[in-house]
Amino acid sequence: MKNILSIFAFCAFALSVGINTNVQAGPAGKTDPNSIYERLGGQPAINAAVDLFYKKVLADKRVNHFFEDVNMKRQANRQKAFLAAAFGGPKPYKGKDLQKAHAHLNLTEADFNVIAGHLQATLTELKIDAKLIAEVMAVAASTKDAVLNHQHATK
Ligand code: HEM
Repeated sequence: MKNILSIFAFCAFALSVGINTNVQAGPAGKTDPNSIYERLGGQPAINAAVDLFYKKVLADKRVNHFFEDVNMKRQANRQKAFLAAAFGGPKPYKGKDLQKAHAHLNLTEADFNVIAGHLQATLTELKIDAKLIAEVMAVAASTKDAVLNHQHATK
């Protein structure tokens, strides 16, 4: 009886502090508590950041023309899934590889830097710790060769 009570107490505690009790992902879907994904606040935090990020991108005349014919809801969902996976989240990314996704856009380094700048500004606005922002920006920088379709990109 005592055990049942303590399990109940734990669940109530977990719910009240927002511990993720969703076990759907199973053991293979576990995340490292030290991952960028967890330290940012998991999928809800990444979703909020991506939504704010695309607001900034779409308001910027230097780059918004690239997104003129793009379904932005779908795009945001793909970016959320990509970043979650890149930051150590529980689900593998199943979208197009980055080189294929950007090949037709003929992007320059300047375009990349504008986008990276919006990502950084988003995280600053959301009051993410500076060290964690630097880690996120390093992940973003690691995608640069693929996004710009440079020869030595692996994907
Ligand atoms: C930080 C680097 C970047 C990352 C991680 C990234 C990530 C992604 C992802 C995950 C997709 C969806 C791929 C799919 O269809 O499954 C995508 C598509 C796209 N990205 Fe990026 N991207 C980056 C940089 C850029 C830059 C610099 C631009 C333009 C200024 C850009 C413009 C686009 C556009 C227009 C699409 C939609 C392509 C289409 O549906 O035809 N991206 N990106």
